[in-house]
Amino acid sequence: MKTVNTLLCLLCVSVPVLASDDAAVQPPEPYCKWEMVNYSIPEPLCGLKGDAANGQKVMLDSARGNCLACHQLPVDGVEAYGTIAPPLAGIANRLSEAQLRLRVVDTRHLNPNSIMPGFYRDPSLINRPAVKYAGRTFLSAQNVEDVIAYLETLK
Ligand code: HEC
Repeated sequence: MKTVNTLLCLLCVSVPVLASDDAAVQPPEPYCKWEMVNYSIPEPLCGLKGDAANGQKVMLDSARGNCLACHQLPVDGVEAYGTIAPPLAGIANRLSEAQLRLRVVDTRHLNPNSIMPGFYRDPSLINRPAVKYAGRTFLSAQNVEDVIAYLETLK
């Protein structure tokens, strides 16, 4: 009987552990406000430092950046499935880091009709009907900084 109780108890404990593993039920991370200066964002989001290798992964991942839906990237063996946006090869020669940040964060400050998603737009301005996404930006601040770090390598 003692063994059965122990087993039951283990099961009881495992339920909340499993639930907390599900990213969808985690509260959203706090949103860091950013400031636009001369059509750019000079300060890294939340003061974070980006990781270029992870930035490339985020951009290629259709569940995260999904940049290939619209942009070609200079990555061997990778084909964009949409070409309605400018190719990003050499982008760091054309735009500064601060200019790149505004384009990824919320490019509608440059072109109100842009079809490019604002990946770190103020979540209070985004209508997200699914409760699990309410209050969330499309990418985390860290992932945006990772993407910027990768774009900076495209020279
Ligand atoms: C739904 C299509 C779409 C997606 C997805 C998209 N973009 Fe864009 N992007 C555009 C368009 C269109 C432009 C051209 C400017 C405009 O219309 O706003 C653009 C412009 C840009 C520019 C400026 C390019 C230049 O030559 O001036 C950068 C940088 C950029 N996007 C990065 C990204 C990154 C990084 C991602 C993924 C995290 C991404 N985009 C996802 C459509 C998209």
